[in-house]
Amino acid sequence: MRALVLVFVISALTLTCSAKQFPAGFKFGAATAAYQVEGAWNVSDKTPSIWDIYTHDKPHKILDGSNGDIACDSYHLWETDIQLAKDLGLHFYRFSLSWTRLLPNGFANKISEDGVRYYNNLIDGLLANGIEPMVTLFHWDLPQNLQDLGGMTNPLVAEWFGDYSRVAYTLFGDRVQTWSTFNEPVIICDAAYETGDLAPGIVSPGIGNYICAKNLMVAHATAYRIYDEEFRAKFNGKVGIVNNHVWYAPYSSEHEDLTFLARQLGFLYSHPIYSESGGWPPSIESFIAEKSEKEGYVTSRLPGFTSEEIEFIKGTADYYGINYYTSRLVLAARANSTLTWPTNGQVDLQVELVPDASWTAGVEWLVSNPPGLRAQLNLIKEQFGDWEIIITENGFSTASDELDDVTRTQYYKDHLEQVLLAITEDDVNVTGYTAWSLIDNFEWNSGYTSRFGIVRVDFSDPLRSRTPRASAHYYADVIKHHSL
Ligand code: NOJ
Repeated sequence: MRALVLVFVISALTLTCSAKQFPAGFKFGAATAAYQVEGAWNVSDKTPSIWDIYTHDKPHKILDGSNGDIACDSYHLWETDIQLAKDLGLHFYRFSLSWTRLLPNGFANKISEDGVRYYNNLIDGLLANGIEPMVTLFHWDLPQNLQDLGGMTNPLVAEWFGDYSRVAYTLFGDRVQTWSTFNEPVIICDAAYETGDLAPGIVSPGIGNYICAKNLMVAHATAYRIYDEEFRAKFNGKVGIVNNHVWYAPYSSEHEDLTFLARQLGFLYSHPIYSESGGWPPSIESFIAEKSEKEGYVTSRLPGFTSEEIEFIKGTADYYGINYYTSRLVLAARANSTLTWPTNGQVDLQVELVPDASWTAGVEWLVSNPPGLRAQLNLIKEQFGDWEIIITENGFSTASDELDDVTRTQYYKDHLEQVLLAITEDDVNVTGYTAWSLIDNFEWNSGYTSRFGIVRVDFSDPLRSRTPRASAHYYADVIKHHSL
């Protein structure tokens, strides 16, 4: 009898263990971005990006008046970062290239030797330590000289970006297997053009953001097709785009239609690529067209695609990259409500987004609702079919720089649980998970007041010393056992 009970207990334990096991081949990583960590904003022949100019000209737009001039000094401390990644046992490290470090003119006519050396060192150093590099081409730091020519609102940006991507693939494609074109188009276009609170600081809500959106889609597809036509046969890598998704749930049943629209708006930058029909989400396209007409515009404020453009963009991804942090309840805008978060498309839709009172609050916008991640993964599958999905960012911010980061650790645990459920229960094809961030860094408008690192960075120390937090130890443990 006793033996029987023991067998039962052991098999129950095994079951629980395997239920918490990630599939073989599932990869864990951590991420950063060039402007947020590199510093060295003007070394060698690097020229300013829009973030250099914006933070220098408008320090009042940054909570602590800071900038990324030095940041984590990863330009000099890249070996330390690699060591941290190695200690964590990361399978991959996601970082971005600074366009102006590589191409000081923004154009492909001049390639910086120093930039090439820097990224070669980083890539080779990672590989030497068994860590795959995952490279983002554009994480918000557009060359300022291209901004002076209209930046993302100039249709030529597709060619400029295509040329830049070709240089990157040529230089690093033999060692980089996974590429992302743009990180979070919704921030690049919508957030940046709404309030002017993000670089380039242009206020053109409902116009600039949609012009940017169209050009960004064409630019992405251009870079994808260049890889496909000129590099895939040689290097056999993957190219995708990274979209930020907030999980939207209806505030109450009467707001369901609006929630549907909010979700479709959330797919503005996915639908043209991942849907079978291509083009903008139809409900959003007609909504904005009708609204524009009523407002007296001759054409829709959301520029349409030609049928050639629809075909050109459709299918241009090898995986679906998702950054997920938070959720919101959707309701029709009430009188006097502020509609500034997270995109001005929301202003077009007249929706208000509020957190549920039960969700744990982090810093500012970040409330934790782990089931929202699983729900969003399912929604992507439901809407676009069975794409490979890589969670390219997920993480939690705190105002304090404590090492015993209990809430952050809990956030990771709760979200990883939901990822596992999406894989095992819902059969969503998630193949990788990326913690944001490897290290504390320059958090855009929040400067250094908002900390996302699983590793703490001491910004008062000229050496920018780095110390792993409890969450880093927790994550290392998950990676080591490949399970929760
Ligand atoms: C997403 C962005 O990609 C990253 O740059 C930022 O730091 C995190 N969200 C946290 O806000």
